[in-house]
Amino acid sequence: MKIISLGVADFKNTVKEEIKFSDGINIIYGDNAAGKTNLLEAIFLFAAGKSFRGNKDKDFIRFGQDSAFAEIEFEDKNGIQRMGIKLYKNAKKQIFRNCAQITKLSEYLGLFRAVIFTPDHLNLVKGSPEGRRRFIDLAICQSFPRYVATVSEYNRVLAQKNALLKNKIGSDELTEVYNEKLCGLAAHITQNRLKYICRLQNEAQAFQNDMTDGAERLTLEYCSQAGSNFCSAEEIKERYTNLYKSKKEQEKQRGTTLYGPHKDDFYIYINGKNARLFASQGQQRSAVLSLKLAEGELSKKLTGEYPVFLLDDILSELDAKRKKYILDKTEGKQVIITGCEKEFFAAFESKTRIYMENGKACFYT
Ligand SMILES: Nc1ncnc2c1ncn2[C@@H]1O[C@H](COP(=O)(O)OP(=O)(O)OP(=O)(O)O)[C@@H](O)[C@H]1O
Ligand SMILES: [Mg+2]
Repeated sequence: MKIISLGVADFKNTVKEEIKFSDGINIIYGDNAAGKTNLLEAIFLFAAGKSFRGNKDKDFIRFGQDSAFAEIEFEDKNGIQRMGIKLYKNAKKQIFRNCAQITKLSEYLGLFRAVIFTPDHLNLVKGSPEGRRRFIDLAICQSFPRYVATVSEYNRVLAQKNALLKNKIGSDELTEVYNEKLCGLAAHITQNRLKYICRLQNEAQAFQNDMTDGAERLTLEYCSQAGSNFCSAEEIKERYTNLYKSKKEQEKQRGTTLYGPHKDDFYIYINGKNARLFASQGQQRSAVLSLKLAEGELSKKLTGEYPVFLLDDILSELDAKRKKYILDKTEGKQVIITGCEKEFFAAFESKTRIYMENGKACFYT
């Protein structure tokens, strides 16, 4: 799959731009605060339906304006397609696919697929479980768009149950109704994540092995309160049913839902040791690169096409060996790379080089 063009209007610090991309490597360079990452954020909005920086929809609107617009033209095995998004300060966003408005996120996700690499991704190893859960859910959604509906429904029911528990209102029967719904949804989410992590491990292991000349074996372990790799959805559902029953008083006392996939995590091990606790900064960085490359590889296996690779300012941080590795592995795929120094990219073979300044794109070939 490849992105052909991106158009934005009143999007963050850009007033209006139309940018065309080519196959292979595309370079966006410019000083700090020029708007390079903003462009990647605009592209990734079509893959994820939200910001990879944790921004809210309204944050995309240029300061002082009431709305923002972004559209992409991309090509996949079905031909050329267009997607657009209009964001309003005081109204719900509108999403378009080939000019027709679509209402469900599940009809939107999975059409355009991208993998983003950012310096913040070190948090996949070092950061909180929440970031790791977001990473898996987003990756699954791109390949299995209907998964997003399950996650949204789970979060909706969870919020309702938590409101009851927090305010100490409603009957036990009502909490049980919510628990019943949560169990089914939780089982579906857990199963999807378990399967995804298992597949991701297989891919990531090969990259890590390659990158470290066989010295490092990367393994992943999904940690759920209700199940392991060997559990069926029915078993997971039953375990949650039992947990909610046995921990009813505890949840009431604490005023929140203590069990469910919103508490899950996955551990990353290098040679059997937890990478968060024992790996060096460089090893953690390699593990993240392996995971992100694995995400791209898995996307290809699940959908038949490679996603677009977005590399936000990560190459300058890598040593020569890892930099070469990532460029070798993304060769032949469409890659959009940002960075500050023009000289840094001098040796790169790329058809499109875009210099950004104050939100404006100036073209170079
Ligand atoms: N809603 C908004 N309206 C206008 N400007 C915004 C908005 N949101 C962010 N900006 C500005 O956009 C500018 C560019 O941000 P961006 O992160 O894209 O820079 P960058 O080129 O990636 O810089 P760096 O090299 O430091 O990573 C920032 O100065 C930021 O304040
Ligand atoms: Mg940036």
